[in-house]
Amino acid sequence: MSLEKPLLIISGASKGIGYKTAEIFLNNGFDVLNVSRNACTLAGVSNINLDLVRAADETIKKQLLAQISQKRRIVLIHNSSVCYNDTLQNFSPAHWQDTLRLNVTIPALLSQWLLPQMTPQSAIIFVGSTLSEKAVGNTCSYTMSKHAVLGLMRAVCQDLAGQFIHTCCVCPGVTDTEMLRLRVDNNAALLAKLTHLQSDDRLLQPQEIAEAIFMAATHPIFNGAVLHANGGQIER
Ligand SMILES: NC(=O)c1ccc[n+]([C@@H]2O[C@H](COP(=O)([O-])OP(=O)(O)OC[C@H]3O[C@@H](n4cnc5c(N)ncnc54)[C@H](OP(=O)(O)O)[C@@H]3O)[C@@H](O)[C@H]2O)c1
Repeated sequence: MSLEKPLLIISGASKGIGYKTAEIFLNNGFDVLNVSRNACTLAGVSNINLDLVRAADETIKKQLLAQISQKRRIVLIHNSSVCYNDTLQNFSPAHWQDTLRLNVTIPALLSQWLLPQMTPQSAIIFVGSTLSEKAVGNTCSYTMSKHAVLGLMRAVCQDLAGQFIHTCCVCPGVTDTEMLRLRVDNNAALLAKLTHLQSDDRLLQPQEIAEAIFMAATHPIFNGAVLHANGGQIER
C-alpha cells in the first residue's frame, strides 16, 4: 500500500454491494482493504479474512492496526451485515446477539479503533437500509439493528464535529444480492412483492448502491445525512 493514496477500509467486500464498492474506490485511486470471512477477489485488494461475529475484539483490532503504519486519509465503510427472517414472537437470542454484534457493535468498535489513524478529509460511512427508518414484518432483529446503525451514525456525527471527518448513512432499497436471495428463500411471490416495491418495478443493482456510497464518502456536505438509495419506494 502506498501512503500517498487514500485508503478504503470496508467490511464485507467479498460479494454484493461491498464488492462493487471496493471496485469503484480502486478505480478512483484508493488502496483497498477488505475485512470478511472470504476474500474480495478484485486484483489489488488486500484482505483480512476474519469472522467479525466470532473473532475476539483484540484479534480484529490487532490485525487491522497492523495494516496502518501512520495516519492517512481513510474512508471506513461499515457494509457487512446479517439478516435473519424473524419476528418478535420467534426471534432466537443467539441470532439477535449475532445481528447486534455484526451490524452495530462492530461498526462502533472499528470506528473507535481507526479514528486515531484518520487525517482530515477521512470519512466513516454506514450502510443502513430502508429498514433504518421503517419496518416490515418478519425482519425484527434486522430492523432493530438497522435503526441502531442510523442512530450510531448520528452520534458519530456529533462526536466528530470540528475534526473534518464526515459520516453518513446510505440506505439501500431492495438490491439483487445474495442477502436478498437468502431472505427470499426461493419464494417467488415474496421476490415479486419486493421487486414491485421499487417505483420502476425492478430490483436495484449493487453497482447503483456502490455509486451512492462513493458519492457519500467523497462529499463532506452529506455529513450527518441519511441518504436513501432506493429509486423511490412505493409505500404500502
Ligand atoms: N441487498 C439488499 O436488498 C439490501 C437492502 C438494504 C440494505 N442492505 C445492506 O447492504 C449491505 C450489503 O449487503 P449485501 O446485500 O451486499 O449482502 P451480501 O451480498 O450478503 O454481502 C454481505 C457481506 O457481509 C460479509 N459478512 C457477513 N457475515 C460476516 C461475518 N460474520 N464476518 C465478516 N463479514 C461478514 C460477507 O462476507 P463473507 O461471507 O465473506 O464473510 C459479505 O461480503 C448490508 O449492510 C445490508 O444490510 C442490503
